[in-house]
Amino acid sequence: MPLIHSELPSRIHVGRRLVARVGELLRADGHRGNRAVVLSGQSARRLYGNAVVSSLRGAGYQVTTLPLPSGEGAKDLAVAARIFQELAARRVDRSAVLIGLGGGVVTDLAGYVAANYLRGLSLAQVPTTLLAQVDASVGGKCALNVAPGKNNVGAIHHPCTVVVDPDTLSSLDDSRLAGGFAEAVKFGAVLSGAYLALLERDAEALLARVPVALDAIIEDALELKTRLLLRDLNDEGEQELLLFGHTLAGALEVLLFPEGPTHGEAVAIGISFAGHLAAVSGFADPLTGERLRELLRRFGLPTALPPVSAERVVAAMRYDKKVRDGRARFVLVRRPGWAEICDRIEPAAVLEALRRTQEEPLAPVRSVSAAFHPSPSKVVG
Ligand SMILES: NC(=O)c1ccc[n+]([C@@H]2O[C@H](COP(=O)([O-])OP(=O)(O)OC[C@H]3O[C@@H](n4cnc5c(N)ncnc54)[C@H](O)[C@@H]3O)[C@@H](O)[C@H]2O)c1
Ligand SMILES: [Zn+2]
Repeated sequence: MPLIHSELPSRIHVGRRLVARVGELLRADGHRGNRAVVLSGQSARRLYGNAVVSSLRGAGYQVTTLPLPSGEGAKDLAVAARIFQELAARRVDRSAVLIGLGGGVVTDLAGYVAANYLRGLSLAQVPTTLLAQVDASVGGKCALNVAPGKNNVGAIHHPCTVVVDPDTLSSLDDSRLAGGFAEAVKFGAVLSGAYLALLERDAEALLARVPVALDAIIEDALELKTRLLLRDLNDEGEQELLLFGHTLAGALEVLLFPEGPTHGEAVAIGISFAGHLAAVSGFADPLTGERLRELLRRFGLPTALPPVSAERVVAAMRYDKKVRDGRARFVLVRRPGWAEICDRIEPAAVLEALRRTQEEPLAPVRSVSAAFHPSPSKVVG
C-alpha cells in the first residue's frame, strides 16, 4: 500500500479494500480523539458506509453519520449551515474527526465544514469517484458555490488522512468515471508529457477498468499533484496551473446548471477551448490542442461547446477566480507538461476560440474492448 509523500500535511493511502480500514489508518496517522462524524453522499453511504463505520468503531470511535444531499447543488451555504447546526446540536467538539465519504461534492463540502466549524476540525477524505481520487480529495482546497460564481467561497484545509480505494470505482457509471479522466488529462497536459502518453497508451484498458491500469493512473496523478503541492502548498502560485480548462468549465457549470455538463465534462470542454485559444493566440501549435481533444474524445468526453451564446459565456467567465484587476487570465499549454498563465489574450481570440469549440464534433458513442489487457508502467515516483 503506497503512502505518498510524508512531507505533506496529509498522509495519502492508496490501495484496494482500504475503505474497510479507515479507522485503523486514522489511528496509524496519529488521530487520538474518540469521535468521528461521517458526511456522505447517498450512493457512497449505501455502498461503503457500513464498511467505513465498522472500521471506525473497530478503532474505538463513537460514530455519527450525517447524510448529504447529492449533486453540485449541495455545495451551498445553506447546506453547510445545516451541518454546522447538527454538529453543534450533537456537541461535536474539536477532538472529533470529520470524514468526507463520496465524490468531489462531498469532499469539498466536508473540507469547508471542517475548515470552519469551531475554526477547524481534523479532516479525513475517503473519495469514491475517480475525479475525487485523483484531484478533489487532495490539496486541501474546498469550496462552495455562491451565485453567480463557482467554487468562489471556501478555504484551504488539509486533510490529515486521505484514503483512496480504487475498488470503490467499480460502482461508478461510465460517464462519471470519464469525468475523472478529464482531470487526469489536465494533469498530463499541464504537468507531465509522460503521464499524458500513459493515458493515451492505456485509454482502452482504463475504459475497460483494468485494475492495474486504473491503479497506475491514480497513483501517478497523486504523485504529480503532491509534487506540485510541495512547491505551492498554500495556493499562492503554481497551483493555479491546475485550473487549466476550468475558466470555461466554471462558466458553463454556472450558466447551464442544473441540466448542464458535470464538472468533469465541463473541464473536458474547457480543455478543448483552451487548446483552440492557445492555437488562435499563436501560443502553441494547433496539434497540441488537437492531441488533447482526441484523447478526451477517446474517453467519451465532450469537446464541443453546448448551445449557449458566446456573449453569455464571456460574461460568465468574468467571475473566474483567476481574474486580477478585472483582467481575464487563462492557463495555456505550450506543449504537454509545459503550461503558463496568460493575461494578454485579445477578446477577439477568445471569441474565435469559442467559435472553433462550437464546431467541434459532438460527443462520440463509446465502444469499450474489455479484452484489452496491457501492462502499464509507472511514469513518475
Ligand atoms: N477541491 C478541489 O481541489 C477540487 C478539484 C476537482 C474538482 N472539485 C469539485 O468536485 C466536484 C465534482 O466531483 P465528482 O465528479 O466526484 O461529482 P459528485 O461528487 O457529484 O459525484 C458524482 C455522483 O456519483 C455518485 N457517487 C459517488 N461515489 C460513487 C460510487 N463509488 N459509486 C457510485 N456512485 C457514486 C455521487 O453520489 C454523485 O451522484 C465539483 O464540485 C468540483 O468543483 C474540487
Ligand atoms: Zn476540476
